[in-house]
Amino acid sequence: MRVVIISLLVFFVAVNGEGEQCIPRYFGHSSFACVCNATYCDTFSRPRVPAEGTFLLYTSDMNINRFLETSHDFTDIIKNGTEEVNEFTLDPEVTYQNVLGFGGAFTDSAAKNWLSLSPSTRDHLLRSYFSSIGIEYNIGRVNMGGCDFSWRTYSYDDVEGDVALEYFALQEEDTVYKIPMIQRAKELSEKPIRLIASPWSAPIWMKSNDQFQGMGHLLEEMYQPWAEYFVRFFKSYQEHDIDFWGVTAQNEPINGNVPFFWFNCMGWTADTQRDWIAGHLGPTLESNNLGDLKLMIMDDQRYLLPDWPVTVLNDTEAAQYVDGIAVHWYWDDFSSPNLLTRTHELFPDAFLLGTEACVGDKPYEVEVAIGSWERLERYANDIITDLNHWVSGWTDWNLALDTGGGPNWANNFVDSPIIVNETADEFYKNPMFYAMGHFSKFVQEGAQRIELTPISATSLNTVALRNPDNSIVIVILNKTEREIEARIQTPQEGSIIVVVGPRSLQTVYYV
Ligand SMILES: *[C@@H]1O[C@H](CO)[C@@H](O)[C@H](O)[C@H]1NC(C)=O
Ligand SMILES: *[C@@H]1O[C@H](CO)[C@@H](O)[C@H](O)[C@H]1NC(C)=O
Ligand SMILES: *[C@@H]1O[C@H](CO)[C@@H](O)[C@H](O)[C@H]1NC(C)=O
Ligand SMILES: *[C@@H]1O[C@H](CO)[C@@H](O)[C@H](O)[C@H]1NC(C)=O
Repeated sequence: MRVVIISLLVFFVAVNGEGEQCIPRYFGHSSFACVCNATYCDTFSRPRVPAEGTFLLYTSDMNINRFLETSHDFTDIIKNGTEEVNEFTLDPEVTYQNVLGFGGAFTDSAAKNWLSLSPSTRDHLLRSYFSSIGIEYNIGRVNMGGCDFSWRTYSYDDVEGDVALEYFALQEEDTVYKIPMIQRAKELSEKPIRLIASPWSAPIWMKSNDQFQGMGHLLEEMYQPWAEYFVRFFKSYQEHDIDFWGVTAQNEPINGNVPFFWFNCMGWTADTQRDWIAGHLGPTLESNNLGDLKLMIMDDQRYLLPDWPVTVLNDTEAAQYVDGIAVHWYWDDFSSPNLLTRTHELFPDAFLLGTEACVGDKPYEVEVAIGSWERLERYANDIITDLNHWVSGWTDWNLALDTGGGPNWANNFVDSPIIVNETADEFYKNPMFYAMGHFSKFVQEGAQRIELTPISATSLNTVALRNPDNSIVIVILNKTEREIEARIQTPQEGSIIVVVGPRSLQTVYYV
């Protein structure tokens, strides 16, 4: 009996410092989700400063752990208990891009799911993402008007021919749903939240096809009213004390060039986006005192690189207004990450930022797979790859969806790191949530990627960063079923020797 009690104590102390533990539940997939309700939710405290000569290691794996914290000494003694050894050298003096951050999207549907919970469960959800006992997201994307993750189609001015935007008005989706959610997130967060707005479609009377979905583009005579609409949006949110950090010119501009495309979209080519930014959006945003709003182009798949930015940024009129290039992840399996590096080399002053990603979107995938470990691996792998190819941050899609992956008026259901069960007043934190946290909790805004070089072939996916406070973060993903020993030689502290368990994700942290 005593033995049992002691081992339980050890277990609880070992897992994630002083925080509340994950309450695991299986839903028939490869791993478990952590259950939160009105009175309970697992937490993740900030890493303490590791003692001199030691580093902290945080481990999540398929079978047992979420953010398990352990402490280890830097050493030069080779353990060699494992069969497979992968060696690396770390060079913090070789630096790459600056990090902007990590986050998710305050969509209409995310806000509706959030609001369907009781007030204390709601706070557990937002604390999990934004607070100092959560994974500390600092980016939030917001749909400007309706998107597919809305329960109806709408814009902020559905009065035909209202080019003066006299009837422009935020809708219930903003005032009742998203704005309260954003405001509460801001209250619970210690960091500023960088909000990014993205439109899916203009009002249908501004478009060639008179519909929110399907193939169609903005009518040329509407180029200026559509730019003014952006300004009205930002001013309306300012009235609710919400300022935006950035804006993308259009969500997935390619979709609106596809016949019968099935959810909200509006078609642009790189040429029309360039001309609209140069002649209308750029000057209109600039002359309306919206602060240092970051304008991003593309907001679409990686395979469009580098041609899309080349077309827009080779034009000095357009380029003067553009700060960054936004990328989505949906076809990353079919396009090389070297496209990101080439784009960076062509336009070193424009940041690259991941603005949307989710799983369960393909027809051959299950929409919602609560507890899927493979989905954590896909997130972590893509984030590591992006960071290793000049991308400054990574933004997930819906912050929360229901158990069917919605609501979505166009039946485009997908998965989310947090699945809400309204009936039970519970939510489930998927492995994907922890994938995000292995980066967002440790990598601060302004961190720089630093050089981590494998000395021989490796089966591990790795990335290293240095924070503005000089702490070092190394993320290691092992997708294999094998145990691998990672030996990372640092310039001063000695070696970091970590046994990377099968199917695990780890973060090394030291100061
Ligand atoms: C909430 O979760 C905790 C921990 O699992 C559990 O003890 C408690 O009974 C739950 N509360 C409700 C209302 O389900
Ligand atoms: C570690 O052990 C493996 C096999 O157990 C062996 O092949 C390898 O040479 C050893 N490496 C070192 C550095 O001792
Ligand atoms: C960029 O612009 C220059 C001059 O305006 C032009 O000569 C060149 O062909 C353009 N390059 C691309 C890739 O469009
Ligand atoms: C949601 O909660 C209800 C009520 O507790 C339960 O019957 C249902 O199975 C839950 N759904 C999921 C996906 O767990």
